[in-house]
Amino acid sequence: GTTYLSDYRPYPFTLSTVSLTFRLAPRATRVTARLALSPRAAGAALHLDGEELKLISLALDGAALAPADYRLTETGLTIHPAALPEGPFTLETEVEIAPETNTALEGLYMSKGMYCTQCEAEGFRKITFYPDRPDVMARFHVRIEGEAPVLLSNGNPVGAGDGWAEWDDPWPKPAYLFALVAGELVATQGSFTTMSGRKADLNVWVRPGDEDRTDYALGAIQRSMKWDEEAFGREYDLDVFNLVAVDDFNMGAMENKGLNIFNSKLVLASPETATDLDYERIEGVIGHEYFHNWTGDRITCRDWFQLCLKEGLTVFRDQSFTSDMRLGAVKRIEDVIALRARQFREDAGPLAHPPRPDHYREINNFYTSTVYEKGAEVVRMLQTLLGPDGFRAAMDLYFARHDGQACTIEDWITVFEDASGRDLGQFKRWYTDAGTPHLTVTETFENGTYTLEFTQDTKPTPGQAEKPPRLIPIAVGLIGPNGDEVVPTRVLEMTEARQSFAFEGLGAKPVPSILRGFSAPVVLERQTSPAEQAFLLANDTDPFNRWEAGRSLARETLIAMTTGAAPDAEYLDAVGGLIADEAADPAFRALVLRLPSEDEIAQAIAASGKVADPDAIHAARTALMQALAARHEATLAATYEACAQPGAYRPEAADAGRRSLRLACLALLGTRDGGARAAALFDNATNMTESLGALGLLVAQGKGEAALARFRARWQDNALVMDKWFTTQLALCPPAEAADRAARLAEDPLFTWKNPNRFRALMGGLSANHAGFHRADGAGYRFYADWLIRLDPVNPQTAARMSTAFETRARYDAGRQAKIRAELERIAAVEGLSRDLSEMTARLLG
Ligand code: ARG
Ligand code: ZN
Repeated sequence: GTTYLSDYRPYPFTLSTVSLTFRLAPRATRVTARLALSPRAAGAALHLDGEELKLISLALDGAALAPADYRLTETGLTIHPAALPEGPFTLETEVEIAPETNTALEGLYMSKGMYCTQCEAEGFRKITFYPDRPDVMARFHVRIEGEAPVLLSNGNPVGAGDGWAEWDDPWPKPAYLFALVAGELVATQGSFTTMSGRKADLNVWVRPGDEDRTDYALGAIQRSMKWDEEAFGREYDLDVFNLVAVDDFNMGAMENKGLNIFNSKLVLASPETATDLDYERIEGVIGHEYFHNWTGDRITCRDWFQLCLKEGLTVFRDQSFTSDMRLGAVKRIEDVIALRARQFREDAGPLAHPPRPDHYREINNFYTSTVYEKGAEVVRMLQTLLGPDGFRAAMDLYFARHDGQACTIEDWITVFEDASGRDLGQFKRWYTDAGTPHLTVTETFENGTYTLEFTQDTKPTPGQAEKPPRLIPIAVGLIGPNGDEVVPTRVLEMTEARQSFAFEGLGAKPVPSILRGFSAPVVLERQTSPAEQAFLLANDTDPFNRWEAGRSLARETLIAMTTGAAPDAEYLDAVGGLIADEAADPAFRALVLRLPSEDEIAQAIAASGKVADPDAIHAARTALMQALAARHEATLAATYEACAQPGAYRPEAADAGRRSLRLACLALLGTRDGGARAAALFDNATNMTESLGALGLLVAQGKGEAALARFRARWQDNALVMDKWFTTQLALCPPAEAADRAARLAEDPLFTWKNPNRFRALMGGLSANHAGFHRADGAGYRFYADWLIRLDPVNPQTAARMSTAFETRARYDAGRQAKIRAELERIAAVEGLSRDLSEMTARLLG
């Protein structure tokens, strides 16, 4: 069935405390739960969620319930009102579960001999009978009995002995934040003293053998704790903070109170095994999960429709954190690249939905880029509208007013209205309306007055035909003809479908820099000349728009090249000026040198109403790289040499930026030197960033086989590095061979497909090879669909998530569209398909 936002009703009971006892055994774990309940009103039945549980016993206030007193179904346990007392009572259940056979990795499961849990969103109901909804918040006391040397749960440790441990969490929480970990684990320890002088012990728990790759994670926890105090005044609130790395995990990480659980790829790092991007993500995700302690745990969501209340806000917080730890301008550009690649893509297809959806079949299918990344953009717009101080004041009010509560987007908006005195009714559409607004702009200049006229338009999305205008904050600055800024950044607030803004007293017609810092998640369409874009690339004082000018030049020349045009000379020249510009940051220069992805080009072509041709796009992009390299070979070679860094690897942003520029130069130079430099770098690299970068470039040149074999031999025992081996060769190999290579790799004994990281490494590598995945004969589609069908009964959540590779169907020619449709129909017809994947295929089929 479908769940609707409008059906929300408060739970008819309050639950004050929960006492859980786990007696761990791989195939027969016993869980007893004592719930202290109290009816809010007379006459309600008590419904507890529960799935795949074997009920052993059931007692109310110590007396066993008779079968006539309750009803047990596939989805839960309902106790008849007549069997319930009028006042408070205790319900005790005992169930048996089998963590070892839990391949869905939801609830209590085992990963390499270690017990662990994943409860968000609705996994707790696979552990015990419980009101598994986020608006039911209770205090948890947990006792774990088991042979494992380390037994962890949420909150503070309150006792431990031979074969048991007890934990008490003083902060009421919903069940999705429950966690348990048990196994043979070792900790890297540290501590943090909060601003009010409270000391917390920090532990990064990993499997023995991995402890030499935990230092960076520990430091990232400490930096996160400090930053949240400085940026938001938020302190940590328990005696211990435990973080555990797990090899089998469906997503990135999870913010369970006091016991964050992470995919090991987002914890373990050493220079030899992790790339610069890995380091940056580890720091960002550790920040993300830690920041949830306030935005998610202390203040949680009333229901799952409100997911972006915690996720959008917490992504915004982790982006701000990374921005402060690294280079703010570069981080902003990276975030916008990712937003366009994932969220704009989602918004343009059959899966489009608002940051706050109003119905779903399977909530796991809504942990999307729209909820997360667009949710973060919406928070960022609030910050832009209120200014930094106004925003901080509103956040202070949010924490003060709603601590300990389960909230809605309405509560959040009201806080911002109360703090600012503004009416945010129109702004709220960003939460409720799907789709990316397109902003067109025209300009006039007359008697010293420069006028920008904007029009906003959002195309219909599934279930939402009408799109009323939204409040769009448009940050604008004006540059004079000589390159000086004549009007500094000003935030225009567009509220109408069509609206003009005038700037007076100008001596000459300026060049506008519109949507500075990407002040709103919209597509800006503006008729402009390559000369003007080159001017902005050289002169804009806003680093985002400086990059954006180069980006749109690149995109436009690439699109023209797909139909036979020559590379735009203005673009080639403009890039040349930047490669060796010592005044610009290396990381920024690297971003300018990196061309839009083939997927982004396809998206842009489709947005203009044309058919995207994957082979032509691949050829155009390759040709533009060749043209850039031919034009600037000497500068690229000199920059490549100048960026070499003798001495020990450090993950810091400045060093990472130079490596990034070095690899960007290398990618272009490869079209000139036949891969000689890449081969030399692969032989001599002492860090994974350069080793993997060089490997990828060799693969792209069709010269990767020997290097791939050596890489495999060296790293076959390191799962995280082998994931990179699978992904890199599939994402970067010549498109014609991608599907066959994927089929060959699926036969590799190292393709342990039940491990989500490995499955994603292979399938995600294939789908990242744009022209390879979209090979005209449909071989890529067929292979991919075969594996979704195979994974679904084992791990529906991951199968459903990977099905989004098919969301771009409408961009392509009729032949490809029909082939994708046929694969989706084949999946949809599978007997016993999961709710996860059947919802996705139904939406993808439209
Ligand atoms: N709350 C977690 C995070 O954002 C992610 C949980 C994802 N859960 C899911 N069922 N997809 O950090
Ligand atoms: Zn999150």
